[in-house]
Amino acid sequence: MSSPSQHFVFDAYGTLFDVHSAARQHGGTIGEAWPRLSEIWRNKQLEYTWIYARLDRHVPFREITRRALAYALTVTGQPLALAPKLLETYDRLATFPEVPDVLSALKSRGAKLAILSNGDADMLGPLVQNAGLAGMFDAVFSVASAGTFKPAARVYGLVSDHYRVAPSAITFLSSNRWDVAGARDFGFEPIWINRSGMPDEYPDLPAARVLSNLAPLAS
Ligand code: LAC
Repeated sequence: MSSPSQHFVFDAYGTLFDVHSAARQHGGTIGEAWPRLSEIWRNKQLEYTWIYARLDRHVPFREITRRALAYALTVTGQPLALAPKLLETYDRLATFPEVPDVLSALKSRGAKLAILSNGDADMLGPLVQNAGLAGMFDAVFSVASAGTFKPAARVYGLVSDHYRVAPSAITFLSSNRWDVAGARDFGFEPIWINRSGMPDEYPDLPAARVLSNLAPLAS
């Protein structure tokens, strides 16, 4: 078994990649409604994953993202014709500024780095590639292989099964507090990346550490 600190598994959307950068890039066209549109888009996208996980069904995340966007455009009174451009931007979301340096620092220390995401493999591949991070990850796990979504236990199990380590040997990083709760329940060592200074939740499923961004991992 490898040492516990050697496996760092990252959530993708919101943790490494800024989901709001898609609507922000089109802020000139959308106008001042873009932050609300982006918020509704993200919240609906997550809601759909939770419902399908509860029903033990899987729908491709690109389709979930498309449906959530159509809802958000309708609610905010924006033309549905904006959808293709916004969806295309989802393959080239911006990384948070500290991400490349943190990944390089961890990798140079010999850590194994991976992504575990609700995204489909054909979304995560271009996303990682377009961000210039293709060489960083030993593995990119999509929930699609488990046929459900986070926080179903068998999603987190994809990682520990692959590395053949105990869940407690996996350091899991997510900006999504509910994802941290799911990871803790499974037995991972979760770190909550509380990027927007939100209050803590799920006191029965605590994070092992809370950081405001990933930068402290580099030192
Ligand atoms: C993901 C979502 C939860 O990347 O952000 O899995």
